[in-house]
Amino acid sequence: MTSPDTDAPAVREEVLEAIGLTKHFPVRGRLRDLLSRATPRVHAVDDVTLTLRRGRVTALVGESGSGKSTVARLLAQLYPRTAGTIRLHGEPVTVRGGRPFRAYARRVQMIFQDPFASLNPVHTVRYHLTRALRVHGNAGRTAADLDAALRALLERVTLTPPDRYLDKFPHELSGGQRQRVAIARALGADPEVLLADEPVSMLDVSIRLGVLNLLRDLKERLRLAVLYITHDIASARYFADETLVMYAGRLVEGGDSETVTQRPAHPYTRLLIDSAPDPDRITGAGRAAVAERGDGEPPSLLRPPPGCRFHPRCPYAMPRCGADLPPPLQVGDRPGHWAACWLHDPATRDAQAGPTALALVGDDGREATR
Ligand SMILES: Nc1ncnc2c1ncn2[C@@H]1O[C@H](COP(=O)(O)OP(=O)(O)OP(=O)(O)O)[C@@H](O)[C@H]1O
Ligand SMILES: [Mg+2]
Repeated sequence: MTSPDTDAPAVREEVLEAIGLTKHFPVRGRLRDLLSRATPRVHAVDDVTLTLRRGRVTALVGESGSGKSTVARLLAQLYPRTAGTIRLHGEPVTVRGGRPFRAYARRVQMIFQDPFASLNPVHTVRYHLTRALRVHGNAGRTAADLDAALRALLERVTLTPPDRYLDKFPHELSGGQRQRVAIARALGADPEVLLADEPVSMLDVSIRLGVLNLLRDLKERLRLAVLYITHDIASARYFADETLVMYAGRLVEGGDSETVTQRPAHPYTRLLIDSAPDPDRITGAGRAAVAERGDGEPPSLLRPPPGCRFHPRCPYAMPRCGADLPPPLQVGDRPGHWAACWLHDPATRDAQAGPTALALVGDDGREATR
C-alpha cells in the first residue's frame, strides 16, 4: 500500500488478496435430490475477504470443518472457486494447471500439516530440494551453483551442517526436521507468500515452538507474507500479527492478534478462547462459563442456518441474528478490529442496552466480565 500523499514504500504492502472468496462443493445427491434437480452443496467457504501483507503473519483460526484448508487451497489455486477474486500485487489471477500454475506457485507456496505425507519416502532430502529448485528455475547453471543453493536452503531452515541432512531419507529425520525440509522445499521456489496449513499441529509439543520461530524468522528475513492456519488461538497471539476467526465457512472477527485474543468481540471467538487448554486460565469457573455459553455442534454446511451461522449456538442471539447476516462491524474505537455480530451494531446496542449482553460482549475487554 502506498500512502496517498507520498510514493514512499508502504510498511504494509499487500501481496495476496482474496475478495468475496466462495467455494461450494457439489456432493452426490440421493435419488430424491437428483429428481428435484437440486444438487446439494457443501457451503465450505462463503464470502471470505482477506489480505496477506509482506513481512506479516496472518492467522486463520477456527474449529475443524470451518473451511480453513479450503481457503488455503483456493488461495493456492488448487481448486477452482465458486465466486470471488484473488489478486496478486493488485492483479486478478485465475490459473488452472500447466505453465501459468507453475508461475503462480513460484510466488505462492503451501506447507502442509503432515510433512511425512508431503515428502516422498523413497527420495532423499537432496532429491526433494533439487527438484524444487529446478522446477522453479533456481538451481543455477552448474553443479556448484546447485550445491550452493541446496546448502543455502538447509541453512535457512537451520538444518546444519547441511552435509548431515542432504542424503537422508524422510524416515531418518524427526518430525520437526521433516517439516523443516518441507519448508526448505517451499523456499526453493523463492516465494513471496507461504500458506502454512496447520504446520505444527502434527509435531510434538516440545518442537512446535522451534518451527514457529523459524517461520517467524523467515517472515522477517525474507519479508514473506504468511498465512498461518491453526485450531490454536493461543498460538495465533504468539505468532501472528493479525488474526482472523472463521466459523462454518465465514469470517466472523478480525484485527490485530493482541486485540482479537485479549479482547474478543464475537461470541464465537470467546468460545474458542474459553475452550483453549490454557492452564493459567481454565479454572472450574472458566469451564462452567464454556458450558453455559454456546457449547454445541457447528451447523450442517449443506443447509447453513440463515442470518449469522453461529446464532443457533449463541447465548446472546436476538431475533435479528436468525434472519439477517451481520456485516463486518467495527468494534469500539480500535482501528482494524471488526466482528460480524449484531451486538456491535450501534442500533442494536441502543435498543438492547441491557447490561447483560453488552457487558459480556463489550469493548471493555473480557476481564471485565469475570
Ligand atoms: N473436496 C471436498 N468435497 C466436499 N466437501 C469438502 C471437500 N473438501 C472439504 N469439504 C468440506 O468443506 C468443509 C470445510 O473443510 P476444510 O477442510 O476446509 O475445513 P478445515 O477448517 O480445514 O478443517 P480441519 O481443521 O479439520 O482441517 C467441511 O465440511 C468439509 O467436509
Ligand atoms: Mg484443514
